[in-house]
This record gives sequence, C-alpha cells and structure tokens, in this order.
Amino acid sequence: MTRTFPADFRWGSATASYQIEGAVAEDGRGPSIWDTFSHTPGKVLGGDTGDVADDHYHRVSEDIALMRDLGLQSYRFSIAWPRIQPAGSGPVNQPGLDFYSRLTDELLAAGIAPVATLYHWDLPQPLQDAGGWPARETALRFGDYAGIMAEALGDRISVWTTLNEPWCAAYLGYASGVHAPGITDPAAALAAAHHLNLAHGLAGRAVRSVLGERAELSVTLNLHVARPENPDSADDLDAVRQIDAVGNRVFLGPMLEGRYPDDLIADTAAVTDWGFVQDGDTATAQVPLSVLGVNFYSTMLVARRAADAPAVRADGHGVAEASPWVGAETVNFLQQPGPYTAMGWNIDPQGLTNLLTGLARRYPDLPLMITENGAAFDDVVDDDGGVHDADRVSYLHRHLEAVLDARDAGANVTGYFVWSLLDNFEWSYGYSKRFGITYVDYRTLQRIPKDSSKWYAELIRTRQLPALD
Ligand code: FCB
Repeated sequence: MTRTFPADFRWGSATASYQIEGAVAEDGRGPSIWDTFSHTPGKVLGGDTGDVADDHYHRVSEDIALMRDLGLQSYRFSIAWPRIQPAGSGPVNQPGLDFYSRLTDELLAAGIAPVATLYHWDLPQPLQDAGGWPARETALRFGDYAGIMAEALGDRISVWTTLNEPWCAAYLGYASGVHAPGITDPAAALAAAHHLNLAHGLAGRAVRSVLGERAELSVTLNLHVARPENPDSADDLDAVRQIDAVGNRVFLGPMLEGRYPDDLIADTAAVTDWGFVQDGDTATAQVPLSVLGVNFYSTMLVARRAADAPAVRADGHGVAEASPWVGAETVNFLQQPGPYTAMGWNIDPQGLTNLLTGLARRYPDLPLMITENGAAFDDVVDDDGGVHDADRVSYLHRHLEAVLDARDAGANVTGYFVWSLLDNFEWSYGYSKRFGITYVDYRTLQRIPKDSSKWYAELIRTRQLPALD
C-alpha cells in the first residue's frame, strides 16, 4: 500500500559548516578546534582536513541550485562561530556575517526555508585554549554569539537550532577523544555536557530576547536507542538505563525538565561531584522549545559486563582506547545483526519508530523533527556517469516508513532532513565515508546527483511512499 505524507510535512536536507565550507582562512575566519585537530597527525583518517572540503563557501549558488532541483522546502546548515567571532568573543567579523546573510537571502529567493544551527562542533580555538566546553566561560560566550546571530539574521531564519549533538561534542571531544579537541578526561566530559546544556539555555534565551515568540527554537540531539541483550536480565536492563541516563537524559533532563536525573548523578559519582553546576543553571537550560530535532542513524545492543570479563566496544563511534560512556564503563556494546552501512552501523528503522513514540509519550506537547538521517555507502561513479546508490534509497525509504509508523502511533513528527545534501568531511573518517545524496568528486569538486537524490525529489513532489516489496 502506498502511504502519503501530509502536505505540511517539512522536507529538507542538512549539512554542517566545517564538513562542507572549506575556505578556512578566508575573510577573517579564525581557527576552530577542528582545524587544529584535523591538522594533528593521526587524528583523521588519511590526514584529511576541512581546508577545502566541498568548497561550498565559493559554491553557494551552485549548491542552492541543487536544492532547488530537489524541490527542497528547507535547508539545515550550521554557522561557523569562528567566522563570526574569530576569537570566540569580542569583535564581530563582518565578512563572516555577510556570508551567512547572503546564503540566507539566496535560500529565501529560491523558496527554501533556512534552518540554522549555531554550533556544529567548530569551536573557536581561542576558547578551547581558555578551557573549552569544560569551562563555564565558553557557555557565556556562546550566549553572546547567539544574540549576535539573532540580531543579524533575525526572522529570515525559520528555525534556530542552538546545538547539534552535544553528546558528541562532550563525550567524543573530551572523553574518548576521537573528535576535537581530542581530550580523554571523563570528568571534563561531564563538565562539558553541563556547559553545553547551559549554553543551549543561554543561546535560546538570547534568540528569544531578540526575536520574541516568533522565533522557532530547537536543539538537535542524537538520542541513543539501546536494547538489552537479554530482556529478562535485570543487569542488562540496568545497562540500558545507564546508557539512557548518560547518553540521553543528561541533555533531555536539563533542557526539557529543568533538572539532572538522580540516577545520572549517582552513576557518575566516582568521576565528579557535579560541583560545576551552579544554582539556577538547570532552570536556565530549560528554555521553551518549538520543536526538538532528532538525529538517528542506528541502534545499540547492550549488556552488563561481568567484573572479570573483557570490555566489548562496538558502538560505532570510532576506535578509541578511552570510552565515551562516562560512568557506564561496565556496559558492553555488542555486535548487532546486520545489515550495516559503510560506517559499520547497523540498519534498524524500527529503532527510529521506538525513539519517536517514546519521546512523544514523555513530551506529548513537543513537536519532533528528524534533523538528520541517512547512510554512508561506498558509492562509485558508474560507466554511465551516474551513481546508483540503491542501498541508500532503501535505507531512506525504510526510515521514512518508520517515521510514518511513528506518526500513526501518535508522534507529532513535522519534518525530515536527509543527511546529507553533499558528500563531505566525515569528521575523524575524513572523506572516506560518503553520506551525500549528491556525489562530490574531491579532485574536481564536481557535484553529481546520485539516484537517491532523484528518488528524494520524487518523494518530495508526490509525498507518496510506495510499499516496499
Ligand atoms: C552526526 C553528525 C553529522 C554527520 C553524521 C553522519 O553525528 O551530526 O555531522 O557526521 O553524524
């Protein structure tokens, strides 16, 4: 049976500044932690950096034309803080503002609603030198920067997103160290998580104080769907609880309920006393949201590790000596049944339905939007010049069915942004992983729409999702 999406469902695609822009030293942009990290030998596969990336900085019009061909209604991009404030504080760099202002205007002229993320991991390096996210100061400066952006772009932006995936920024950046700034200090990671919560609240309040209630405000989280290896095992269920605490409720708690969960504080007591939380911080973090952004790629299978058994790590977040799962070190992450994407991530659309319906039960009045979903596969340009990515089409198709299932079960999912518009710099994997619905030839920077982009355009046009065989 063919299923139909409602007419007001928002269709988009997503990117992030460091992953696509290039032009890292142009027009006054300062260095970010990802410039430093990617230029540190051994941190990124193949020594790749974002120096050129997709050269989007110089190809905005070409890329908007691609979006127009797709029939996109929305485009989710991120703003590079070091283009706006090269030092992370103080004077504003006008050419940086002008770049995003032009991008916004060109999107609007093409009939595409801009969805802007204020932070997708490219922290100005001077702020890291002063302590980074484990330091409170960074959150305060983020609030200032959010105010600057709200003044500059105002209501030309249709949705303001404070942060992208603070889980990755905190735990991959400061606990496992596979992301910039590459630090492995569990206590610092929890302090970072807290200051990201605070930063979210300060930024949200800054945007609202400039734009009032007309601002659509959001945050994007990568919430983890963990299943127990043995659903009858109290230990395995407790492992699931721990992952939910340190992976999900560490952000959902402050941002949506104004407090940290007690079990999280207890689980991490050996790491920190949470003394960095000041009176009023969690109340500040809870700023009323218009919509919650949900990023989803795969699920995890967990079990409690026996004290004498070796740790097992197959959680898809890069090979690291140190675990990103602070306070949950006795949780094992087991190999999941396939199929897998080129990231080695399992494909489990049912997990997306479960996640969305669970959120809808817990936060019934909060609309949800899929701000990222997609898959890397080893795409090649065929002799006929096309990129025939049937596996990506199938991945997207099955996840969009999962979205419809969640909607049928009552979840208010209002839109979907495919990750990503373009192949791009996939963080510590460099250019080795292709997530785009548009292929990028990194030698010529030529863009080639993959079959999935044609499929997506047709879906946007008809809103119809045919039954899978
Ligand atoms: C998410 C990130 C995004 C991209 C995808 C594959 O964690 O937000 O930048 O790398 O994963």
